[in-house]
Amino acid sequence: MSRMACLLDMHPFLSEASVAPPRREEQDAYAISAEFYDILQGEQDGARVRQLYSRDVGNARLAVLDVGAGTGRVTLMCLVESQVPVHAVEPARSMRSPLMTRLASLPSDLRTRVTVHPHTLDEAGLHKVADVAICHNTIACLHPASRRALWPAIAGALVPGGVLLIQLPPACLPHHETTHDLPTQRVGQHEYGGRMVASADVNRIRTRFEYWVRGEGGVLREHTETFWMWPTARTEVIGELEKSGFAPLPERADPAVLAVRLTRRCPAPRSPEHARLLRLGLATALPPAPR
Ligand SMILES: C[S@@+](CC[C@H](N)C(=O)[O-])C[C@H]1O[C@@H](n2cnc3c(N)ncnc32)[C@H](O)[C@@H]1O
Repeated sequence: MSRMACLLDMHPFLSEASVAPPRREEQDAYAISAEFYDILQGEQDGARVRQLYSRDVGNARLAVLDVGAGTGRVTLMCLVESQVPVHAVEPARSMRSPLMTRLASLPSDLRTRVTVHPHTLDEAGLHKVADVAICHNTIACLHPASRRALWPAIAGALVPGGVLLIQLPPACLPHHETTHDLPTQRVGQHEYGGRMVASADVNRIRTRFEYWVRGEGGVLREHTETFWMWPTARTEVIGELEKSGFAPLPERADPAVLAVRLTRRCPAPRSPEHARLLRLGLATALPPAPR
């Protein structure tokens, strides 16, 4: 009898547990990458997020919302560059763990200003809490339905007049496979390295991350993790955002970031069906509410 069959035999409840579909938290899309994220991308991206967002964050008067906080690079920049509370929204446990470690190392005056929400934004129940929101490196990997569901949730979390900054997804599919090497880093006796290989797959971009750790005698271990990205044109993103009450602000120095302002409230759902259409960004398909 195999070891697994033997275990199932001994524990009648185990067979039930093992066939149950994994809960969302167990289907952690970043389970592999979380270990390598900061060491291979941290320093470069830390400088970039300061350059992209620090002025807006410095202008926040109510609070800053970091949507898809990951391991906390944007969160940390928000704490340092502002005087206001910061809401870090991060549903994936693998990414939230380094985020918590990063926050634990901060002096308590910084740490008391940040709240971590272990959910997707639409589940976090945040209403009118912030006047600046940032989505850095978050939108590209969202399925279009999830992306469209995010805009009304951000509109709900911002006060009127609030500003949203989005790092835009790639606008189109790559023509051929491209490889981007991540600079290698030394940790003690080991060298960490990786690369990102992107290629078109029908209407999506398959993005394969390959990681390795080398010791003196050669490769000690290798891992890969694949993410899907949905190319979306800037105008399409703006069109979706307009349905949730956002208006585009003038183009920024770096066209990779789109800035929009919440100019009107997102319509409140009138029925479960209306709520579903709002999430899909199709609410305007409904006739006006009866008076
Ligand atoms: C590629 S990581 C980027 C993390 C961070 N912004 C950075 O640039 O270092 C994207 C993050 O968005 C999170 N995420 C995905 N969908 C989300 C949603 N609906 N609400 C909030 N976070 C989400 C993922 O769990 C993931 O950690």
